[in-house]
Amino acid sequence: MKLYLFITLFLTATISQSDNAKLKQDTHKDYTLIFEDDFSVLNFSKWQHEITMDGGGNREFEYYTNNRSNSFVRDGVLYLKPTFTSDIIGLRAVEKGGTMDIWGADPGTYCTSQKSDGCFKQSDGVNIINPITSARIRTTNSFSFKYGRIEVRAMLPEGDWIWPGIWLRPIHNEYGNWPASGEIDIVESRGNSPSYPPGGYNKFGTTLHWGPFPGNDPWSKSHAVWTASTEKDLIENFHTYGFIWNETYMGSYIDDEKNVVLSLPIDMPFWDLGGWYKNPNLVNPWIGGGKNAPFDKEFYMLLNVAVGGACEYFPDGNGKPWTNKDKLAQKQFWDSRDSWHDSWLGDNTAMRIDWVKVWGKK
Ligand SMILES: *[C@@H]1O[C@H](CO)[C@@H](O)[C@H](O)[C@H]1NC(C)=O
Ligand SMILES: *[C@@H]1O[C@H](CO)[C@@H](O)[C@H](O)[C@H]1NC(C)=O
Ligand SMILES: *[C@@H]1O[C@H](CO)[C@@H](O)[C@H](O)[C@H]1NC(C)=O
Repeated sequence: MKLYLFITLFLTATISQSDNAKLKQDTHKDYTLIFEDDFSVLNFSKWQHEITMDGGGNREFEYYTNNRSNSFVRDGVLYLKPTFTSDIIGLRAVEKGGTMDIWGADPGTYCTSQKSDGCFKQSDGVNIINPITSARIRTTNSFSFKYGRIEVRAMLPEGDWIWPGIWLRPIHNEYGNWPASGEIDIVESRGNSPSYPPGGYNKFGTTLHWGPFPGNDPWSKSHAVWTASTEKDLIENFHTYGFIWNETYMGSYIDDEKNVVLSLPIDMPFWDLGGWYKNPNLVNPWIGGGKNAPFDKEFYMLLNVAVGGACEYFPDGNGKPWTNKDKLAQKQFWDSRDSWHDSWLGDNTAMRIDWVKVWGKK
């Protein structure tokens, strides 16, 4: 009898202890799944294509379109893959005498950005039509969130000058246009070889952009780079890229929260972090916002594969075949394709995404 009682008590104690542990874990994770895509199909209710040749604000060399050669699902994996525009309109049209009119006629085909002649271009032998075709998809019409956790299981692309992105942008720009309303770049990398000095496919970076106006964006204060322990790990294996975002902390990790990439505890307003309070002539766009403004508003998701760009992501030198200041940067890139095309091998040039999950606060 005594023995029986002892066993019962012991069992009860054991069970309630493990129940407590479970409960504790659940309260610690008081998050709920608010978005999920495992890419059994490319779901246009979840993702909308950008359709433009605007160069992403960086004079990038791609034309973003809705074409199953550039965005497609195979075996439960989403591929975002750059190809040559000459495959669609022919080499001659890309370089000389060609016209690319992508204004579109209905909601599925409308050009999404006419900035920098994004909807209409002509080639004349000097100015060429964006020579790369690729894909950039986003959740502008379907999903945005504020605070929580996002995880994306992805394999990064390989190939010179390929620039993939997994990122978040403000849905309403409530503090004004870029960079005043912020930008959260969870993953950016370069498909170049690891010997490329600015960083190749063995690395990826996480960066927040924020500031009162373009040219005044101290992103390096909210930036970190992860280097894989084996060179080809990120381009040969799927990894989970995670980002935690709340009122007091913003940071990224790879595979496990313990592998911290960016860690940014928010213990002062971004206006103070930027040091602009020292300049009385500058206007603080974040007055009235939270301490973590501009990162206290709803953001939507983007997934894309860009190529090149006349911008600082690919600084001049280090064997780069174009010069950023040159008006003909895009032509220089294209004319030198013999120097980089051998590094583009089939589907290795695609960013492959197995799933995306977002948890929000309950
Ligand atoms: C596509 O997404 C919508 C919205 O999330 C969902 O209701 C629908 O079931 C999805 N379709 C497929 C085939 O997964
Ligand atoms: C889609 O891309 C393929 C391969 O580049 C091309 O052959 C095809 O013409 C494209 N379709 C359209 C409608 O542009
Ligand atoms: C924000 O996230 C950090 C890192 O996970 C955590 O330590 C902190 O308690 C969170 N703060 C809030 C207000 O949720």
